[in-house]
Amino acid sequence: MKKNKEILIGVTGGISAYKACELIRILRKSGYGVRAAMTANAAKFVTPLTFRTLTARPVAMEMFDDQIHWEPEHIAIADQMDLVAVVPATANFIAKLANGLCDEILSCVITATKAKVLIAPAMNDNMYEHPTVKENLKKLKSFGYTIVAPVEGELACGRVGVGHLAPVESIAGQIEKLLK
Ligand SMILES: Cc1cc2nc3c(=O)[nH]c(=O)nc-3n(C[C@H](O)[C@H](O)[C@H](O)COP(=O)(O)O)c2cc1C
Repeated sequence: MKKNKEILIGVTGGISAYKACELIRILRKSGYGVRAAMTANAAKFVTPLTFRTLTARPVAMEMFDDQIHWEPEHIAIADQMDLVAVVPATANFIAKLANGLCDEILSCVITATKAKVLIAPAMNDNMYEHPTVKENLKKLKSFGYTIVAPVEGELACGRVGVGHLAPVESIAGQIEKLLK
């Protein structure tokens, strides 16, 4: 079946950022158009070149570069997308979204879009249990965003706990469901 829906994968600065690569591969194989956007900290974990190559499209990282088109890129992307998925979503990025901060391209796109939004948090288990993170995720749910909860697994600190990114296959399944 031919699908021509457009998905933006937003990558933030967590240790599981590399898993977004596999998610993009799965989504492209299913026939979706995929673009990637990254925070500056995400690029400390995985290079933009990797995402550019996997999506075969430019990676959205900068808002203030010279543009070929007159329209600001964050608004163009916000208008083009059917779904924006933040995978992985850091505690920091979740806090920004919950409070309307727009200081880089990914948060600007999400605030400007009418597309569906999916958030897949991943972080240390104590961070995930922190009341601010819980409150912020509750807030994002109240905005109509879909939260794909992290699972129990090995964490960057070496411990096992709840905070491990949900399996990318299950995130891809949720995206597919939201786009139907
Ligand atoms: C090695 C390392 C791993 C990290 N992993 C995570 C993580 O999995 N989840 C998280 O919320 N923050 C993690 N952090 C902290 C974030 O990188 C930090 O909060 C950063 O400001 C996030 O930036 P961003 O949200 O703009 O991408 C990690 C930091 C380091 C140095």
